[in-house]
Amino acid sequence: MAEKQKFDIAVIGAGPGGYVAAIKAAQMGRKVALIEKQYLGGTCLNVGCIPSKALLSNAQTLQTIKHAKDFGIEVGKVSFDYSKMKKRKDQVVEKIRSSLGGLIKSNGITIFNGHAEFTAPNELKVRGEDNVMIQAEKIIIATGSEPVDIPAFPCDHKLIRNSTSILELTELPKSIAIIGGGYIGCEFASLFVELGVKVTIIEALSSIVELQGKVISEHLTKAFKTQGIDIKTNTAVEKIDKKKDGVVIHLKGGDTLESDMAVVSVGRRLNSEGLGLEKAGVAVGPRGAIEVNDKLETSAAGIYAIGDITAIAMLAHVASHQGLVAAANACGQEARMHYRAIPAVIFTSPEIATVGLTAEKALEEGYQISVGTYPFQALGKSIATNAVEGFAQVISDKKTGEILGAQVVGHEASVLIAEMALAINNELTLDCVIDTIHAHPTVPEAWLEAALLANETPIHFPPKITKR
Ligand code: FAD
Ligand code: NAI
Repeated sequence: MAEKQKFDIAVIGAGPGGYVAAIKAAQMGRKVALIEKQYLGGTCLNVGCIPSKALLSNAQTLQTIKHAKDFGIEVGKVSFDYSKMKKRKDQVVEKIRSSLGGLIKSNGITIFNGHAEFTAPNELKVRGEDNVMIQAEKIIIATGSEPVDIPAFPCDHKLIRNSTSILELTELPKSIAIIGGGYIGCEFASLFVELGVKVTIIEALSSIVELQGKVISEHLTKAFKTQGIDIKTNTAVEKIDKKKDGVVIHLKGGDTLESDMAVVSVGRRLNSEGLGLEKAGVAVGPRGAIEVNDKLETSAAGIYAIGDITAIAMLAHVASHQGLVAAANACGQEARMHYRAIPAVIFTSPEIATVGLTAEKALEEGYQISVGTYPFQALGKSIATNAVEGFAQVISDKKTGEILGAQVVGHEASVLIAEMALAINNELTLDCVIDTIHAHPTVPEAWLEAALLANETPIHFPPKITKR
């Protein structure tokens, strides 16, 4: 092992958590090292958010073309080449990765390519393309997560794939069985069904996207079934037999299901092994999560953890926000995390987005609630663009009017949720939304109407029938 290099702050892992933390620390005048064993951008850029959304945008384009007739446009026979879609996805990732490298370097951050491991609380050994010892006053752990492999049916990355190897497909199978109906399973189900693949989702719980709340999971289940997706809930997979050209999936109870391919999307494994955490005195909780407080401090002084490895909310934007907070604290400021307004989007068709509390959760927490649910069927812009599926829903505290949560299913859900995240993060009330002029005709008017409904003063919706 060669020379020892000294830094103010070292960040392990260059995903959306780590590289954002590194930039923030550099901005605050610190000498920063960023250590990455694989690709800059981490899971999100290379095998997560960006490639999956690049592929989904192909499916959305195809969907728009298929509905062209509804707008009086004849397009003739439509065909596509999946290998070209995959190539476009790769180009998108490479383009962003290359600009990210430039951005990190432009901030004066030193990048080391290799695997980092603690040898002492403020010392890291890096092995790989770069072989160095790094000494840093503060260290931020941002090592993320990887797909879970199930021992009874491990991925061979051909017939049984995970969220990484499914991105490498160049030719579509005729049928695909997706094990796990959470974020990843449902997004891939949307992609493949639109491209004509027969899709089956096998989910262990009683519904898909269960965490998103009843109203969302019921709507998505109905929409998926209408699209021809077969959904098997309360169903466990016991084993998978591989044949020459497909798989036979054995379900608990004795049923079997044949498919050309299986995708396993049952959650993520945290990257806390092989880091030498014991040498640094960093406490690790169940499932390998690094325990942190709201300042993102671990049990070891001067060591912080952010992103998926904390298992608080495994989302890229949460990792990045934690990165800002941890870097500020590591640089001597006082910053804290608040998790009450985390927007979460599932990029299915229809799109789903949530923030804050669901109705069930708000009731569980003892609130008396008002709920306003506005269907896109009633909204001018939605009717004009022929995108009437779904609704926008606001949950508020009946006593104070404070907005507690919001759910949206339908077009532009991913964009719409930002307004409610801002509202909840700043403790705004229904009146704040009602008093804000919303441009017409636009989809965000759905929030105005939902707030008016929750307030029992609807304008573009019939009033509740009451005796006068
Ligand atoms: P990661 O992005 O996992 O980055 C960790 C980095 O650390 C990796 O590059 C890894 O190589 C490196 N590393 C690990 N150990 C070491 C070590 N010892 N030494 C050096 N380097 C190391 N989230 C969203 O918000 N929106 C989405 O649309 C979305 N889509 C997704 C789609 C898929 C298919 C998947 C799998 C995930 C998706 N996610 C999405 C989740 C998102 O990707 C993660 O929440 C996010 O990447 C976590 O960021 P992170 O910085 O904590 O970790
Ligand atoms: P997930 O936790 O969202 O869903 C896993 C699903 O698999 C759950 O519904 C679970 O009940 C089910 N399951 C678990 N074991 C099973 C088994 N043996 N058989 C059948 N079903 C089983 O995890 P997923 O989809 O792997 O995604 C991982 C994480 O990545 C997400 O939790 C999310 O934080 C992030 N992500 C975010 C996205 C976004 O923001 N749009 C997109 C993709 C991933």
